[in-house]
Amino acid sequence: MQNPNIPRQKTEAELKIDSLLEKLKTVDIDLEQETADQEQLNPYERMLSIRNVWETIKDKLHNPETALDVGSGFGYGTVMLDAQGIKTVGIENVPAKNEQALELFNQLDITLKEIDKIDFENSPAILETDFNKLSDQEVTDLITMFYLSGELISNPETLKTCEKLLKTNGQMILSTEADRAHVEEILASGNLKLPTNFSWEIIDVPNNFEKTIILLTKN
Ligand SMILES: C[S@@+](CC[C@H](N)C(=O)[O-])C[C@H]1O[C@@H](n2cnc3c(N)ncnc32)[C@H](O)[C@@H]1O
Repeated sequence: MQNPNIPRQKTEAELKIDSLLEKLKTVDIDLEQETADQEQLNPYERMLSIRNVWETIKDKLHNPETALDVGSGFGYGTVMLDAQGIKTVGIENVPAKNEQALELFNQLDITLKEIDKIDFENSPAILETDFNKLSDQEVTDLITMFYLSGELISNPETLKTCEKLLKTNGQMILSTEADRAHVEEILASGNLKLPTNFSWEIIDVPNNFEKTIILLTKN
């Protein structure tokens, strides 16, 4: 058993994210977007919040090898997952965001590739498309939606598309800035109906921008 007085050595992935966070503190880029989610414009804060979501949830995952990071925005989640050794494709339908994602990570010597179909061998990569237009079946172990888009998740097609793309036993991480009480209220209201063939749980992320995770597992 680990002696609690001796600090655990950080893993390679944890060190990679630490170094990325340090670089993001000083990166010189003015991101622009047209929507109201202003938090996306702060790369350091976004990466920190996503890292905290990941640290909270990672032990509950089934060792995913591949991930689709849906609504990838400026690519933070896509890059973070790739740094964990998970082959990841970000899906984002706003061209200006994808261009800026490439430029942002290029400044940190991380090449985000642009691809035109799901191909995990190009990880980390971005596929510019409306998520609900994807027609692939059972291709991924994990789907993430960090800082979940209300518009995306309230579209009934979105969870059907997730179900189609996920392999059996695959998992979804939905993280939101809403607190647990708000998430429970939305689920109880029936405005967000989780698919019946998934099991799910709600997990708190203390002291973080994204306060709540819904973890879903496809049965
Ligand atoms: C709140 S932002 C979160 C961005 C990023 N995941 C993050 O953690 O910073 C939600 C993103 O979902 C994208 N989005 C919304 N609907 C989409 C769709 N149908 N297909 C692909 N992306 C979509 C938006 O353009 C936006 O970039």
